[in-house]
Amino acid sequence: MRLDKFLCDALGVTRREATQILKSKTVTVNEVMVKSGATKVTDECVVEWQDRELKVHGPRYIMLYKPEGFVCSHEDGSNRTAFELLDEVKQDKLHFAGRLDVDTTGLVLITDDGQWSHRITSPKHKCAKTYRVWLVDPVEADYVEKFKQGIQLKSETGLTLPAELEVRAEREVLLTIYEGKYHQVKRMFAALGNKVEHLHREMIGEIEMDESLELGEYRYLTEEEVQSVWK
Ligand code: URA
Repeated sequence: MRLDKFLCDALGVTRREATQILKSKTVTVNEVMVKSGATKVTDECVVEWQDRELKVHGPRYIMLYKPEGFVCSHEDGSNRTAFELLDEVKQDKLHFAGRLDVDTTGLVLITDDGQWSHRITSPKHKCAKTYRVWLVDPVEADYVEKFKQGIQLKSETGLTLPAELEVRAEREVLLTIYEGKYHQVKRMFAALGNKVEHLHREMIGEIEMDESLELGEYRYLTEEEVQSVWK
């Protein structure tokens, strides 16, 4: 492949922009500075720009440990966006496979593969999402049964799908839901007269938050994690 075409694909820039980048003498191929867009590059070549290795990406599947204070969208008037935590080229191609509220922490999946994220977000597939929930008021004796039966959310017709609640402490539960309505977990507890103090997503389908990630860090999913969504 020509080097200028490679830069277009790797950086998401136009051919003209690739030419400008090459002119600025910031691109090396196998550690040698190259200015000509016609230079041929193969899979074995190491292409670097501003000291970072460039790759032409296949689909990307990312797990991010989202901190509080970041929104799951490309733009927001008042908050920082979770994309600011990524060091990825062509970020405009990426989207969230299910969002978290600005004050919710935990597992967020990000991808540029629309069919893959559809498996996670489409109500038809009933993909499980598990949250650790800290409540303002103590858990009541009938909560487990109420979540199992389904809960009537304000301004919704019909009950939520059966959900599994595991009580962990007086004010702490693990909740697994199989849909993803707007502010669903907070609204479920509000419907029972309680209030969520803090919410943290631990798992989506079979994909578990990697405990070795620090808040704000991310990693690529393993092949096994990617494939688990199709099961
Ligand atoms: N339910 C909520 O209420 N908020 C989230 O961030 C995720 C699920």
